[in-house]
Amino acid sequence: MQRFDRISGSYDFLAKLVFGKNLERAKNVFLDTIDERKNVLIIGGGTGATLEYLDKLSREIKVDYVESSAGMMHKAQQRSLQFVKATFYKEPIEEFNKVGYDVIITEFFFDLFELPKIELLMAHIVAMLKKGGKWIDTDFRPTNSAWHKIVLKSMIMFFKLTVQMSAKELYDTKPLCINYNLNVKREASFVRGFVTSRLFCYD
Ligand SMILES: C[S@@+](CC[C@H](N)C(=O)[O-])C[C@H]1O[C@@H](n2cnc3c(N)ncnc32)[C@H](O)[C@@H]1O
Repeated sequence: MQRFDRISGSYDFLAKLVFGKNLERAKNVFLDTIDERKNVLIIGGGTGATLEYLDKLSREIKVDYVESSAGMMHKAQQRSLQFVKATFYKEPIEEFNKVGYDVIITEFFFDLFELPKIELLMAHIVAMLKKGGKWIDTDFRPTNSAWHKIVLKSMIMFFKLTVQMSAKELYDTKPLCINYNLNVKREASFVRGFVTSRLFCYD
């Protein structure tokens, strides 16, 4: 059993319970910048809510959906899609090697890892993006708020116990992006900066 299988049934409910609609809003804020007929890669997409949101835009978009948890993947495959043509790959992104994507989407993915692993993952992921392509990354970010620090500690403890998450703190991926010619085009902030969504262009 993959670690995230254990919480695949409760993940969306818990996220909504703690953050209301904020995570959903953050994840969706730049999705309407994806044009018709683009090739999109979603990494660690969980239960597939983003697939449904993309479908509501009524654009014919091809999505490769790479998710390592069978439980999460199963839920994503139950989503009813009319415009989005999704192909599902149940494997870790480290083992997935297709290239030439117009858009890559990561949502609450990098927060699972420690810095050396984040660096490896970023290099692997950027290599799959076309020049001029977009990367939409939504995640928790470190802030100075005492309240955010308490919530973060509780989340780290929860994910450590349930999915044996290795990360002990949050890293901001933005400074790393410069090394990969990823330039921030737009940024939107939620929960007073605890969550941001960034739209990068790969120049
Ligand atoms: C915190 S959840 C976020 C799910 C979804 N993106 C969301 O925002 O609701 C992280 C997801 O990444 C998946 N995951 C973890 N490591 C992965 C890897 N190496 N390759 C692909 N998926 C992975 C997990 O199974 C889980 O579904």
